[in-house]
Amino acid sequence: MISKSKICLILTSLLAVLAAVGIIYSFKFISIGTQGHQIDKFIKHAGYYQLKQIESQSEDGSFTATLNWVKGKREKELRSSPVVKDLRVTFKVDANDECQFKITDLNDSRFHLPENEPYPFTKQRYANKQKEFNLFETEISQVGQKFFFELRRKSTQEIIFSTKDFPLYFTDKYIEVTTQMKDSMIFGLGDRRTDFILKSGKYSLWTRDAADVDNGTPGKEIYGFHPMYLKRDIANNQFQVTLFRNYYGMQVDYEQNSHLTYKVIGGNIDFKFFIGDSNPETSIKLYHNYINGWILHPFWSSGFHQCRWGYKNSDMLMDVWNNYNKYGIPFDSLWTDIDYMYKYQDFTIDFERFNITQMQQIYNLQFCKQTNKIIIFFFNAFIVRSDPKGVHWSSIVDVGIALDSDAAEKGLDMNVFIQSAKTNQSLVGKVWPGQTYYPDFNHPNSTEFWYDGLKNLSSYGISQDGIWIDMNEFSNFVAGEIVPSQSLIEKIKYFLAIDQPTLPFNPLGLERIDHKTLSLDSKHYSGPQGILFNSSNGHVPTQYDFHNLNGFGEGIATYKAAQKLGKKLTFILSRSTAVGSGKYVQHWNGDGYSNWEYMKLSIPSIMNFNMYGIPFNGDDICGLMHDATAEVCARWQQLGSLYPFSRNHNNNDASSQEPYVFKDHPYVLSSTIKTLNVRYQLLKFYYHLFVKGNGLGTIFRPLFWSYPSDDKAYVYETQFMIGDYLMAAPVVKPGNVIKQSTNSCVYIPKGGLFYNFYDFTEFKEGEHCYEVPFDSTLPLYIKSGKIVHIQDKQKVLRSRFLDNTFTLMIALDENNFASGSMLTIDDYNSDENIISNCVDNQNCVVDLFAQGKLSENNMFQINLKIEQETEKTTFQTILIDKLVVIGIKTNDKTYYKTIDLSENPLIINRNNLQFDVQFQL
Ligand code: GLC
Repeated sequence: MISKSKICLILTSLLAVLAAVGIIYSFKFISIGTQGHQIDKFIKHAGYYQLKQIESQSEDGSFTATLNWVKGKREKELRSSPVVKDLRVTFKVDANDECQFKITDLNDSRFHLPENEPYPFTKQRYANKQKEFNLFETEISQVGQKFFFELRRKSTQEIIFSTKDFPLYFTDKYIEVTTQMKDSMIFGLGDRRTDFILKSGKYSLWTRDAADVDNGTPGKEIYGFHPMYLKRDIANNQFQVTLFRNYYGMQVDYEQNSHLTYKVIGGNIDFKFFIGDSNPETSIKLYHNYINGWILHPFWSSGFHQCRWGYKNSDMLMDVWNNYNKYGIPFDSLWTDIDYMYKYQDFTIDFERFNITQMQQIYNLQFCKQTNKIIIFFFNAFIVRSDPKGVHWSSIVDVGIALDSDAAEKGLDMNVFIQSAKTNQSLVGKVWPGQTYYPDFNHPNSTEFWYDGLKNLSSYGISQDGIWIDMNEFSNFVAGEIVPSQSLIEKIKYFLAIDQPTLPFNPLGLERIDHKTLSLDSKHYSGPQGILFNSSNGHVPTQYDFHNLNGFGEGIATYKAAQKLGKKLTFILSRSTAVGSGKYVQHWNGDGYSNWEYMKLSIPSIMNFNMYGIPFNGDDICGLMHDATAEVCARWQQLGSLYPFSRNHNNNDASSQEPYVFKDHPYVLSSTIKTLNVRYQLLKFYYHLFVKGNGLGTIFRPLFWSYPSDDKAYVYETQFMIGDYLMAAPVVKPGNVIKQSTNSCVYIPKGGLFYNFYDFTEFKEGEHCYEVPFDSTLPLYIKSGKIVHIQDKQKVLRSRFLDNTFTLMIALDENNFASGSMLTIDDYNSDENIISNCVDNQNCVVDLFAQGKLSENNMFQINLKIEQETEKTTFQTILIDKLVVIGIKTNDKTYYKTIDLSENPLIINRNNLQFDVQFQL
């Protein structure tokens, strides 16, 4: 028997040990937070670089030069981060509108990522590489003088980048470079949840599992890594994009109208500049071209999606599915979160809770060609996809592989996990299933490992159509890694061994840099067969080098696996992304709260991801965390009905928020149905913008994109444009619960003219305020001068039942003219059809031009002309059976007219490219 006093002694000692650990922990924490002071001290007395020699200069304006360090009088070097004394500067003209400025060590020996796929690289597309045609010019200091570099726009002398009068430090683990930022505004530098126009502040760039709003405090960034910004030179109204091609953790200090400083913990100074014009889209397209463009999603994924964490069994899924069907809410996919897995382990289904027969019923689909039933073989089982109510299965796969799972065993055999520097074994962290390993997506076996897992998941008799890759920052519920041994003494010893990397500067401010992620000294594959990079100079890449690319790597592996599994157009929803991810994955904004602020900030986030080259993006409709009120949920459903990716998603412990659960507030359901019907009317139009974009450019844009010279248009950050056609003014604030309505305003920019999408009333420039009932659709306007094709005759509950008959909404401008475009294919459900006709050869788009004319006897005539975008355009059957001509102006009045052509529809094909339609006013 142990006596009471002994127990007491043991407990007291235990407490003392724990307290000691606590003290050590907090000491360690403090020491991390104060590490920045080391660099401050250095900076105070540091020297500078002088231009040593111009090595080469070429006709197009490119040059190379060398720099050497002139030591400061009382400068003391940081032992942990010595100054790199000799540097090489390279300025390269890549095109007349694209150039690169780089500073490296003399031999360019520091670890950096290659300039080829899957990383961004310069495409050969340039005809004239002579200096006189460059849109930019440069200036550098004299030999022997303190070094500076300046890049200006030739036509306006706008300073695009200038280090003049700012310090420049290049040490082993700390680089600082500053550029001037006069008379400008910038957008980007993500991933963060904040306003679209970036405010002055200190912004961290480091992929993190977090749900913060970032108002310019270090450590508030979220999942992705996109060190690019779009800059508007206000005086000249010119736009340009700057990408900092450095993947290390960094903090960017931005002072509006003054300067912007990068403080980086590794790599090189490497900037790419894309010189656009007065249209912001120009430089964004150049940027997208450089980052390898974005991928097209399958058509079904543009429908509506229902998800939640907490659909704990297939009965619950059935219930949601039945309710959606009962209430007639259009949707295309019902998601399963981690609930479906056995013990939250990847690539498994818990068949005790998820009945495969029920799942097969829900996820049976009928393709629109009814005679052509599709039979799919899954090993021994096969499914006839036959239920018209069937929806697509999208489900989550987390990056952490549970220690005691089959996948872990396989991964260990294949040696694919990230290695701990402490144990020299696979690093152990913790995610939903408990202790986990993390795949190293640079390992040559990792693609096969990942494919194998996903193949396993599709062997149970249902097939995953949408793949949701989550927690891929990589998220870890402990800092660094888990103590592997069991004894307390061992644990303490181990704890003491786990230290922060010695950072002269912490880009996350006071937050531990390995908070909620892996130890930064953990190791990646470094041999010659690396999937993402081969290491040079024997450098073993660590998390320190690779952290911001974790999600990027997983995205590529998932894409390759999906292709190998036979998917043609892939839909892979990834939380973590980096520069170039759009070539492989789509994205949603990640976790947030069910409140007005998060709803509102979803809009700039989606705009940002359009700039980052992942335009198919959305936010959790009705919010993930906390309970959504009926009003928030209704307004969010309205707003989200025009997100590119539209999904209601909820947390495990929040109350239900499917549109039909708000029984005391029936407006949630009715407004959701109405507003989703509008989405489905517009679905083919929306999709056509992605096809037409062909991997470049934005779709969901700020208002100012269409009116860049109107300063006021920049203020209305929650109004958004779909292409250059439609403008939405969502209600994102609470209204009057008694009146069940909100007074809301829309701003029409200078020179703008819009028509209400629903009743065609005219909206001229200026601010218009009006009541928007809770029970309404999203306030939406069509821009004058535009043709939008919609499908308003047949209500469908699934995207695959949309036919090939269209209404043209022709919104005439003051010259009675309008233009648009549409696809010439009739089957959007076949990926093969889209790929062969639209993606590979890009020949399924036609442009539409409508010219109206008022003639005698109050007759009005519309001449509709169709032009093929390429000679190879494929023509499948497309019918136009209704015109809505909006903005017809006579002396005294503005009209709209609906012309029903159902008896004699316009059939568009190669020989039928002009139509005249006359009607009486
Ligand atoms: C993460 C995801 C969230 C998901 C949850 C459970 O927080 O961002 O969407 O519901 O994990 O898998």
